[in-house]
Amino acid sequence: MSRRVRITDVSPRDGLQNEPGVIPASEKARLVELLCLAGVDEVEVTSFVSPRWVPQLGDGAEVFAALAARFPPGTRRPMFSALVPNDRGLDGALAVNRAAGRALIEKVSLFTAASETFSRRNTNASIAETFDRFVPVLDRAAVAGLRVRLYVSCVVACPFEGPIAPDTVATVARQGLQAMQRAHDSRPAGAPGLAGIEIDLGDTIGAATPETIAPAIERTLALPEWGHARGPEAALVLHLHDTFGKAASCVTRALSLGVRSFDSAAGGLGGCPYASTPGKRAPGNIATTALVRAIREAGFEAAVDDEALARASEFAAGLAASRPPGSASP
Ligand code: HMG
Ligand code: MG
Repeated sequence: MSRRVRITDVSPRDGLQNEPGVIPASEKARLVELLCLAGVDEVEVTSFVSPRWVPQLGDGAEVFAALAARFPPGTRRPMFSALVPNDRGLDGALAVNRAAGRALIEKVSLFTAASETFSRRNTNASIAETFDRFVPVLDRAAVAGLRVRLYVSCVVACPFEGPIAPDTVATVARQGLQAMQRAHDSRPAGAPGLAGIEIDLGDTIGAATPETIAPAIERTLALPEWGHARGPEAALVLHLHDTFGKAASCVTRALSLGVRSFDSAAGGLGGCPYASTPGKRAPGNIATTALVRAIREAGFEAAVDDEALARASEFAAGLAASRPPGSASP
């Protein structure tokens, strides 16, 4: 099995979504540019969610317009992705690609949860209703030839419901794999289909330990849907927040179980506003430098330039630190 590990830096999206104050689109684009220079494999640039729900990321189209200018066609760069909750969000992503005249956004990331309460708080929908919303998004993504990621949040614990059973996680992941496969298989004749599919297990509140994350990963990896013969390339990703300093040891455990793709945020920024509880803001993602260290210490490879990553991390931390303290959480 390959020793190379894939890194998606989510700091421009997960990292900034909970930051109070206005961060100009030009600074967000600069962060993305620095992450590109650091050599991560993918940058999750923004989300096309309701700006009433996440005001900080209401400028996604502007950020991508700046990136289109900075990365002309043919420029080597990491993959760009964006979070979309529904058909309207996909409209936003496809409009970016139309305006750029190319697939600037190669992947859209949908999100649901293994907790009903968190799903309702985060998306105003039950888990089943999120899947209903995904149907037209997946069908259109298959026509456009996009890659699709599906986040499953709260894979170890929910801030409202407490511990979540690994079997519940695997059930939601299975439904996700089936939904993506269905959209790929039922694409109209001549359509490219989904270029790749991912299940991304989110430890939304950083509750995981190596002992508690392992069963969620094992049950999900054991799903028969991964072995689909005609399917697009499929991968499992791990998205760790880091509340108790256990995220790096969870990475080590996940690597030993065969996971080869992780999310992290430069500067350790991040947190879902709708995972915050009174008096407790949702925790940041595992810092990209900490992820790289954990990967290398476990004997695997991460293709980043450490000095450039340090510059990106400093810039990311500065973006958060320069805002007035307070919380954008409801
Ligand atoms: P809703 O209120 O149920 O939706 O929200 P609606 O369809 O009734 O629409 C309400 C209004 O929003 C309408 O506008 C729509 O047009 C508009 P109005 O007519 O009232 O002016 N609207 C939109 N506007 C822009 N873009 C859109 C869009 N959709 C509707 N895509 C909705 C449902 C899903 C939209 C809302 O709940 C939402 O935006 N939620 C997003 C919450 C969010 O972004 N959370 C953070 C990301 S998830 C996360 O951080 C976890 C993760 O990191 C993994 C982990 O850590 O576990 C991924
Ligand atoms: Mg997150």
